Amino acid sequence: MALSPTRVTRIVARVIAVVQVTLGILVWTGHWDQLIPIHIAVGVLLVVDLWAAVVLGLRAGAPVALAVLALVWSVGMPVFGLLQANLLPGSAHVAVQVLHLAVGLAAVGLVEGLARSSRRPEAVAS
Ligand code: HEM
Repeated sequence: MALSPTRVTRIVARVIAVVQVTLGILVWTGHWDQLIPIHIAVGVLLVVDLWAAVVLGLRAGAPVALAVLALVWSVGMPVFGLLQANLLPGSAHVAVQVLHLAVGLAAVGLVEGLARSSRRPEAVAS
């Protein structure tokens, strides 16, 4: 089975999701703050993967609105990720943490969505 570039973006996004949630949980325990720079660097990789999915999706007929949403997400996710530690301090901070997780998983979903909404069949095959 051919490994199309679109399929690579999906695989990369899935692997990143597992790595990020694992790193995030370790950071969340409060004992692994030294992993935060790695977590951020992997997050940047997801941004690049999202951009690749946008380019490939647009070339394969994915909806422009979905591509625009993905581009907005690719900026909003890292900005929110970097600012989140200072948002809603105290017991309400857990809402920020859950939102950060949701925003990250949604970015992975956008890579999937761009691939699935492509018109070319080889781009859709998982
Ligand atoms: C460029 C993208 C990202 C940046 C800049 C970023 C940044 C951060 C930072 C700075 C923390 C530590 C927060 C603290 O000190 O309390 C964190 C935690 C965490 N991140 Fe990310 N992150 C990114 C992407 C992601 C993605 C894609 C996922 C999941 C798919 C994710 C899941 C988590 C989880 C579960 C935690 C632990 C709970 C929390 O503190 O929110 N992150 N992230």
